[in-house]
Amino acid sequence: MEIKSVILAAGKGTRMKSNTPKVLHKIMEKPLLGYVLDNVKDIVNEAYVIVGHHAEEVTDYVNSNYSFAKTVLQSPQLGTGHAVSMVCPYLANFDGLAIILCGDTPLITESTLKKFIEYHISCGSDLTVMSTIFDNPTNYGRIIREDDNSLKCIVEEKDATAEQKAVNEVNAGIYCLNWKKIKPAFSQLTSNNAQGEYYLTDIISWGKNQNLKVNAYILENNEEIYGINSRANLAEATRIMNTRKLTSLMENGVTIVDPSSTWISEDTEIGNDTIIYPSTYIEGKNKIGSNCKIGPCAHLRGGVEIADNCKIGNFVEVKKAKIDHNTNAGHLSYIGDSEIGANVNIGAGTITANYNPLTKVKSKTILKDNVKIGSNTVLVAPVEVQEGANIGAGSVITKTIPQWALALTRAPLRIIEGWVKKNS
Ligand code: UD1
Ligand code: CA
Repeated sequence: MEIKSVILAAGKGTRMKSNTPKVLHKIMEKPLLGYVLDNVKDIVNEAYVIVGHHAEEVTDYVNSNYSFAKTVLQSPQLGTGHAVSMVCPYLANFDGLAIILCGDTPLITESTLKKFIEYHISCGSDLTVMSTIFDNPTNYGRIIREDDNSLKCIVEEKDATAEQKAVNEVNAGIYCLNWKKIKPAFSQLTSNNAQGEYYLTDIISWGKNQNLKVNAYILENNEEIYGINSRANLAEATRIMNTRKLTSLMENGVTIVDPSSTWISEDTEIGNDTIIYPSTYIEGKNKIGSNCKIGPCAHLRGGVEIADNCKIGNFVEVKKAKIDHNTNAGHLSYIGDSEIGANVNIGAGTITANYNPLTKVKSKTILKDNVKIGSNTVLVAPVEVQEGANIGAGSVITKTIPQWALALTRAPLRIIEGWVKKNS
């Protein structure tokens, strides 16, 4: 069956107190919305992202990163039900499943979404809502059930009676719809509630009244539906995401010396027997091989590919670089926009000067196999050091260095005997 997704991302996110739209706030350099889109990209053939506040910025992000997704403008924003109704013209003849998600809920996983859809299909449901249990359900919509335990409706915190507020099964904000059957609901929702909004949650009672099959899928791990509404939520979600990543890396044979000071993005792959030393921060999309040593205090900023048996030591920053096997950059270096061969040694304090602030152009540094770079070298890009060449310590390299040559720009050493005594 064809599956499409609708992702709600038009809301204001008032509590972030930010000029950046909420769904573009980042966890380890990836926007919240990116996590949601990545989770559905292998499940659906198309996603509609509902945009409103800062629509242009969100649209730019979606268009430049996700070809399977398109944005649909909701203006003004009259509630979650109104948001979904924006896709009706696009899905007029669609007869498959629609998965509705929120752009501010980045911790949901692809495997949970797959189980959720399987559950919907195996129950023969027309509408399935994901729910979970919270000790403190405050602010979430409550799942209200009939005496026979079947679903009745969802009541928002602001509309709930004291008795309803005591219910701790909550609406995760994730739905699976047999689109054709539920679609008529969107022209029939009303805003007759405490917030004066068209609530998406009202499709549950609507479905019941139409004698459609309405079910809830109870998610055990309530962490996955943690929503971001504030900076504190963002920090907490980052922590949860990181713990998840470190745990999975350790299970796959990576040593993390100190999980409490190590940050590794979801999109970083690391081979077994690699050791990550404390205070290392790895953001964005990276691939690190086996038997590497990273850190302490290394910073990988995305677009980094490191082959096996490499060492990236303390206070080394790497961005957009491909590094072949057995290569070492042990201390205090910056490696950006680079292609580095095998068996290369990069001395302490080596800098690739990749950025020209006048032209704002970034250029590439290429170091071929077996190159040795002496300490405190500046490689002014674009520049290439050919195979096996050596660079003397303290050099500034601005031209191609031919293979097996020695290059150095060091000023000659002068020794003036007795100078100190004579001048004191
Ligand atoms: C919503 C649910 C609540 C559920 C909770 C789970 C409703 C009425 N309530 O509440 O039952 O427990 O999510 O997190 O659906 N949005 C739009 N357009 C709008 C309004 C909102 O796109 O007009 C987007 C927001 O950007 C956000 C999502 O919809 O991504 C949810 O909206 P939000 O206001 O955060 O709803 P909650 O109060 O959290
Ligand atoms: Ca929310």
